[in-house]
Amino acid sequence: MIVSTLDITHINCTPFQDQRPGTAGLRKKVSVFRQPHYLECFVQAIFDTLKLPQGARLVIGGDGRYHNAEAIQTIIRIAAANGIREIIVGQNGLLSTPAASLVIRKYKAAAGFILTASHNPGGPDGDFGLKFNTPSGGQATEQVTEAVFRTSQQLSGYRIASLPPVDLVRTGNTKCGELDIQVIDPVADYAMLMQELFDFAAIRTWLQDGHRIRFDAMHGVTGPYARRILVDLLGCPPDSILHAESLPDFGGLHPDPNPIDAAELVAESLRPDSADLLAASDGDGDRNMILGPGFFLSPGDSVAMMLASLQLLPGYRNGVAGVARSMPTSRALDVVAAELGIPCYETPTGWRFFCNLLEAGLIGLCGEESFGTSSAHVREKDGLWAVLFWINLLAARHRSLKQIADEHWRHHGRHYYQRWDYYTADTSRANAMLGALRSALPGLCGRQFGTAQIESADDFHYRDPVDGSESAHQGIRLVFSDGARIVYRLSGTGTAGATLRVYLERHVRDAAAIDRPTSEVLAPLGNLAAALARIGEFIGADAPTGMI
Ligand code: G1P
Ligand code: ZN
Repeated sequence: MIVSTLDITHINCTPFQDQRPGTAGLRKKVSVFRQPHYLECFVQAIFDTLKLPQGARLVIGGDGRYHNAEAIQTIIRIAAANGIREIIVGQNGLLSTPAASLVIRKYKAAAGFILTASHNPGGPDGDFGLKFNTPSGGQATEQVTEAVFRTSQQLSGYRIASLPPVDLVRTGNTKCGELDIQVIDPVADYAMLMQELFDFAAIRTWLQDGHRIRFDAMHGVTGPYARRILVDLLGCPPDSILHAESLPDFGGLHPDPNPIDAAELVAESLRPDSADLLAASDGDGDRNMILGPGFFLSPGDSVAMMLASLQLLPGYRNGVAGVARSMPTSRALDVVAAELGIPCYETPTGWRFFCNLLEAGLIGLCGEESFGTSSAHVREKDGLWAVLFWINLLAARHRSLKQIADEHWRHHGRHYYQRWDYYTADTSRANAMLGALRSALPGLCGRQFGTAQIESADDFHYRDPVDGSESAHQGIRLVFSDGARIVYRLSGTGTAGATLRVYLERHVRDAAAIDRPTSEVLAPLGNLAAALARIGEFIGADAPTGMI
């Protein structure tokens, strides 16, 4: 029984059966989240599961997408009714995902709520999402999110405090009875940390020497961060930032930093007057895409090259104990780690799997093929951090991005990499396809295709080295004797239908063959992947819906 002077009501309702969090929190259409009691029930299920101590501190912030502000007011009321007594919330309800992670850690909060559907489109017909993070600043583990799901299925109702709407526009403290609400500048703590990690003086000099950068905030949350850091602190001209204003519908764009959705930036990189570094981040600021003049840096290469030059940057002078990548991410990182004599862990898809490794100090750098990279400075991936990392690296190495990549490939070989996505409205067909492929695995091992043989064929099963927890069926992988690999898995972040992801990789060591077009190198492997899994037959698609 909670003793409180707040006016708390218990609302009875029927539980929702669809509140199972996916790869990164609960993601649904805005219309689903706006159903009466829907958000309230999910938040109550989280509090019932986490059992936070009375009087605990909570951080709340989001990517500013449609429904962000209303949802924050609801969460504050449910939190107050569940014993939370201190709430830190970003001004205007904004906190980028990495900044939220930092604020949770820095102010020792008991938990954090991040309102985002990441790179998914926003607006009334778009997507909304909610994920909750632990005191480490990392996303709740699969075990916890599954426990929340079970709780949500049996919920009889929720508790809610009656409070006036909290003014999120002005920073500062407000008291609502025994509840303390602090509206903070969402950028300040983050900008301070970036100045500790990177050599801002060297970057300023590099910019003064005439180098230019271009950052596309895609109308997501990073606009204000980029303005403060790139313009105010580093002295870039204000027009270095594209789509800088945070908008609830991301200006109708798909705020995903990849060559397809950030095509405008790619086009700029191909012009003769291209900036030296062009980069984009997604709706909630945790993804990054890095380009140079006429050059696209694949995320798997990016993290590998970061490791190779890590000690040139102030925050990383002592190197790292180990690194990690998600299983489908290219194995370029493994090659650098092996040379350095440090372990490279392979985790299932989803940033949360890195968190235990980071928290235990086993790794200090990690990345995913899906444009996600970060280090131990927070417990989420971090878009602007990656951008600053690369700017600092260009300034420190006095080389262009392409020159750095060429040198890296000549030394380590190149991991050509591409992801083919197949969308189907029929989830059961996608599951049937994977089921059939799984059954065929024993027969595939040892089979010869052209000059290569399948050396191993399995369904990735992860055992967390820190807590021993197990995660099964994390993707089917076929490893070939000639440095090629195919991985198949279903997306866990969609809100309708199913997306089959096929990840293609080929490691080429011959220095004469490192400058070929990626799609040309990987097309035969992609076609083989489609044939082996009988994608056309099951999904009815002759070609991928998208290639990244
Ligand atoms: C996707 C990416 C994955 C990333 C996640 C959250 O998940 O593939 O690497 O962690 O978004 O940003 P998926 O849709 O593949 O489950
Ligand atoms: Zn994101």
